[in-house]
Amino acid sequence: MQEVIRTSDLAKTYPNGKSVFAGVKLSISPDQRVALIGANGAGKSTLLKCLIGLLPSSQGEIMTLGESFSSTPSSAQLYRLRRQIGFVFQNHGLVGRQSVLTNVIHGKLGLPGSWRAWHHSLAQGNWREEAMQVLSEVKLSEKAKSRADELSGGQAQRVAIARALIRRPKLLIADEPAASLDPAVGRDIMKIFSDLAREHGITLVYTTHDMEHALNYSDRIIALKAGEVFFDLPTRDVSRAEIDNVFQG
Ligand SMILES: Nc1ncnc2c1ncn2[C@@H]1O[C@H](COP(=O)(O)OP(=O)(O)O)[C@@H](O)[C@H]1O
Ligand SMILES: [Mg+2]
Repeated sequence: MQEVIRTSDLAKTYPNGKSVFAGVKLSISPDQRVALIGANGAGKSTLLKCLIGLLPSSQGEIMTLGESFSSTPSSAQLYRLRRQIGFVFQNHGLVGRQSVLTNVIHGKLGLPGSWRAWHHSLAQGNWREEAMQVLSEVKLSEKAKSRADELSGGQAQRVAIARALIRRPKLLIADEPAASLDPAVGRDIMKIFSDLAREHGITLVYTTHDMEHALNYSDRIIALKAGEVFFDLPTRDVSRAEIDNVFQG
C-alpha cells in the first residue's frame, strides 16, 4: 500500500540553534488515524509543519502524498500538497465578521477558480451546496447564516473542520484541535474528526497532549520525547502507563 507520509532520519534545528528532534523515521499509510503526542514543547507542531512543508527541516528526507523533498518542497510541490491537505488548528482562524457559510467556502482558497471563494455571493452554486453538505456533516447546518463570531468555541471548531473537509482532502492535519475546549465539547470535536476521517477514508494526523484524546480517537499513537520518537504503536497496544511515561520528564 502506498504510504501517505514517510520520513527517514528527519531532524529539525531552529535557526537560533534550538534542536527539536533528530532521527525521526515514520511511515503512515492511508486511512490511518494517527495521534502525535508529547509534552508541551516536545516538538509536535514543529514535526507536523515539517511534514507538510510549512517549515524547512534540517536533515533527512520527507515524502508526503507522493511529493519527495528534503528541507522544503518546491513551490510546485507545495501547491500540489496544499490542494490535497485540510488543516485545523487550535486557534480556528475563522473570519469573525463573515458568515459561517463564507468561512467554509474559504476552504476552497488555493484551489483552481478560488478567487470566487472570498465571498459566498460570488461562489459558484455548487460550492454553496458543497459547503452546506459539509456543514451538515459537522451537524451545524442551522448556523450557516450566523456570523462566525457569534459561535461557541466548539461550534467554531466544527466550522474549521467543515472548511477543511470542503477541500476533499486526502490528508487532514489537526494541531491540538480540542485543546482550548471544555472536556465534553473537546470529546465531541475529536469524535467528529475521527468518524469523518474514517467515513471518507481520509488519513488523519492530530496532535494532542490529552491522554484520552490520544487513546480514544486514533488507530496509532506516535509519541515524541526528548527529541526522538519514544514509541510508535497501534493504539490498542498502548497502555496508560506507557502514555504516562511520555509526559514524565
Ligand atoms: N520559531 C522557533 N524558534 C526557536 N525555537 C522554537 C520555535 N518554535 C518552537 N520552538 C521551540 O521548539 C520546541 C518545540 O516546539 P513545538 O513544536 O511548538 O512543541 P509542541 O507543539 O510539542 O508543544 C520548543 O522548545 C519550542 O520552544
Ligand atoms: Mg504545539
